[in-house]
Amino acid sequence: MDQYQYIVKGGNSLSGEVEIAGAKNAALGILAASVMTGETVTVKNVPDVSDIRAILKTIRTIGARVERVDRHCYRINGSMINRKSTVDNDDVREIRGSYYLIGALLGRHRYAAVAQPGGCEIGKRPIDQHIKGFRALGADVSLVPPGMVVAEAEVLRGTHIYMDVVSVGATINIMLAAVLAAGQTIIENAAKEPHVVDVANFLNSMGANIKGAGTDSIRILGVDQLHGTEYSIIPDQIEAGTFMFAAAVTRGDVTLRNVIPRHLDSISAKLREIGCQIHESDDELRVVAARRLGSANVKTLPYPGFPTDMQPQIAVLLGLSSGISFIHESIFEHRFEYVKELTKMGAHITVVEDKTAIIEGVEKYTGAILISPDLRAGAALVIAALAAEGFSEVGEIHFIERGYEDFPEKLRRLGAEIDIVETEAEKRAFMRRVI
Ligand code: UD1
Repeated sequence: MDQYQYIVKGGNSLSGEVEIAGAKNAALGILAASVMTGETVTVKNVPDVSDIRAILKTIRTIGARVERVDRHCYRINGSMINRKSTVDNDDVREIRGSYYLIGALLGRHRYAAVAQPGGCEIGKRPIDQHIKGFRALGADVSLVPPGMVVAEAEVLRGTHIYMDVVSVGATINIMLAAVLAAGQTIIENAAKEPHVVDVANFLNSMGANIKGAGTDSIRILGVDQLHGTEYSIIPDQIEAGTFMFAAAVTRGDVTLRNVIPRHLDSISAKLREIGCQIHESDDELRVVAARRLGSANVKTLPYPGFPTDMQPQIAVLLGLSSGISFIHESIFEHRFEYVKELTKMGAHITVVEDKTAIIEGVEKYTGAILISPDLRAGAALVIAALAAEGFSEVGEIHFIERGYEDFPEKLRRLGAEIDIVETEAEKRAFMRRVI
């Protein structure tokens, strides 16, 4: 064993309560935006995951003061950040959300030089729509030197921007630059994801004037400057959804705490459709799955459609459901890398042209040695392992740690047998303990 990994003994139904962390993808935008003022910004409900640690480290390296108030609360002051900083280190290139520093720094200083973003290898992931938006606002954007995005403007002027594709990243990034542009910007065909709304709410709490976030037409009236604020990030829709599928696949009974049930509607609807019970209250949601579930057709779509980030998790569930299911992935090109891993466990899944998975439900999965191909697929493999007969090992868990806080601990509290092991001896000790 040359790396730490999860070891899982499957077969336990999950039950109990789990507290959902703050939304990673909202936090990435909000933490980047927090350096758009010289005043102090306090951000609460920040998830403690590696992508967030990476963006915090990055804003520190360009001169922001970042004070950790507690595990989930940071006080950030960007008064000392250098106008001409170059944002380039391994962390920036690792994560996707670092691209929000382009919009944030361009808005604040009219200059941003940021290394091109990384993130999971789930498709081509171009940033042409971000660049198109910055240029429309009056910035010169160049990709020289190679690997960098350099955006510069004398003045940014509000304008009418039509997005060619619905992009979460581009919508947020353009919004960041436009809040400090002169005049009105309208973003048409904007993404409507909850984290787009959360970043807009955060910016408004700093004095921005954004209307229409959550619809496909966002109107931004530029202001001269932003001020300090105190803000709490929304709960993570994708972490919540992942636990909903973990409950369903293990035929469990799990209550999620600190969620916004409305953000989970497309997931709840699919689970109900195939036979799960979902009970919702203000900020809680309970999933009960007492028996084998049925088949479904799923197409990933921008919000409020079924999220692409939940696609591997629902595939794991449908792989154990009765009948034949179809999943059509319409957002990213390479999102079925996990299928070969599930096949090792006994799943019957055929992928056609990297776009459609045809899933013939099997009675059971058998434990196997698995490799996480990316963040969400890695989490999906863990929930497959929880449902499987026998032991599974899940490697490359650094992907999972990018977006799930205390994943094994939370699962253990729900009755799962899972641990992180680094050596063969630790693995054997786990096996002895749970047998
Ligand atoms: C964000 C999320 C990711 C999620 C995805 C879709 C973060 C850090 N990541 O990724 O978890 O899976 O939204 O909900 O928030 N596109 C272009 N040109 C662009 C931008 C995007 O063609 O300039 C395309 C992409 O290739 C993709 C689609 O638009 O096919 C949606 O991508 P986008 O919403 O931008 O995803 P990300 O912001 O990368």
